[in-house]
Amino acid sequence: MSAHPDTAFDEAAYLRRYADVRAAVHKGVFSSGRDHFLRCGRAEGRQAWPLDEPVDNGDEDFDEGTYLWLHADVRRAVEEKIWPSGHAHFLKVGKAEGRSIGVQTRETSHAMRDYTRLVRELIATHPDDLALAMAKAIGSQSAEEYYLGGEHQYAMLQRAGLADGQAVYDLACGSGRTAAALARHGWQGSYRGADLIRPLVDYASATKPGFEFFVHRDYSIRAADATLDMVYAWSLFTHLQLEEILLYAADIRRALKPGGVLAFSVLTLDSPAHVDLLLSRALAFKKGERPPHLDTFLARTSVASIFETVLGFKLVEWIEADDTSVIAHGGFGQAVAIYRK
Ligand SMILES: C[S@@+](CC[C@H](N)C(=O)[O-])C[C@H]1O[C@@H](n2cnc3c(N)ncnc32)[C@H](O)[C@@H]1O
Repeated sequence: MSAHPDTAFDEAAYLRRYADVRAAVHKGVFSSGRDHFLRCGRAEGRQAWPLDEPVDNGDEDFDEGTYLWLHADVRRAVEEKIWPSGHAHFLKVGKAEGRSIGVQTRETSHAMRDYTRLVRELIATHPDDLALAMAKAIGSQSAEEYYLGGEHQYAMLQRAGLADGQAVYDLACGSGRTAAALARHGWQGSYRGADLIRPLVDYASATKPGFEFFVHRDYSIRAADATLDMVYAWSLFTHLQLEEILLYAADIRRALKPGGVLAFSVLTLDSPAHVDLLLSRALAFKKGERPPHLDTFLARTSVASIFETVLGFKLVEWIEADDTSVIAHGGFGQAVAIYRK
């Protein structure tokens, strides 16, 4: 159970800092510094914690936004200036209470472990070309491929019903490839992009002004119930276990408005090219080689089981990986599912 958030209150520090409160307590106007803080100090914006309280964090697994999303009481306490930050709360109280920082940490999540390592290695390999490192991190081998991939994603979003004014959530936004395409095409609306890996999110934020990107380390969508017109996930479920896909899918359903759209891409066992890829992976495994991250191959029927039978999404369209009716010259490269809540 959570402690009352004002456990951050430091009586001695508060009285030391505010001479007028000290005097008022001395005169008996307030019974204590805490009494002053609760009755008026908080509303006046006074600080209840010592000024040397740590507010930043050097812990790569801790993410402030994820922690505040998971713990609404801490979020409120930080808004009310009772705690300087979620991290300060976690260090002093939350850790001992066993509060979650999001289950996707390097210890527990293959994606956190693998993508953290991959991104670090790419930045080190391309010290003078961050854009190339950021393109390679999400699977494009050049700036041109990154651009073209974004164009294809934009075309798919249009096919899925993207329109100006919508609230759109880019799950696994990576370094911002799709957001860059949205900006190029002048799309206007409310965009939020989430990813596990901080350097990717930082790069996206720095290079795509006007778009909101954040780190999110929970299998959830950081949006209130029934508030999103569209959620899309390009090349995410291609890298997750089925359990993880199911968790994300269930929360996407919660966050979508009735009639809202979900679009995502997958590697499928229905595509000869993907089966070839799987076979080459199997040979590599036999030699003891490990791919940089997990690749998941799904059949059309397993996608239907999860999204339609289990979660009740309604299929709008299934586009095979090599279908050239939406994307010319070879198709999208992955199969695309478009669903409606
Ligand atoms: C192939 S990249 C695609 C990025 C982006 N959607 C695009 O198409 O440019 C896969 C992305 O998924 C992110 N990712 C992997 N596992 C994740 C998870 N469990 N939750 C959120 N993002 C994840 C990675 O950090 C990476 O940015």
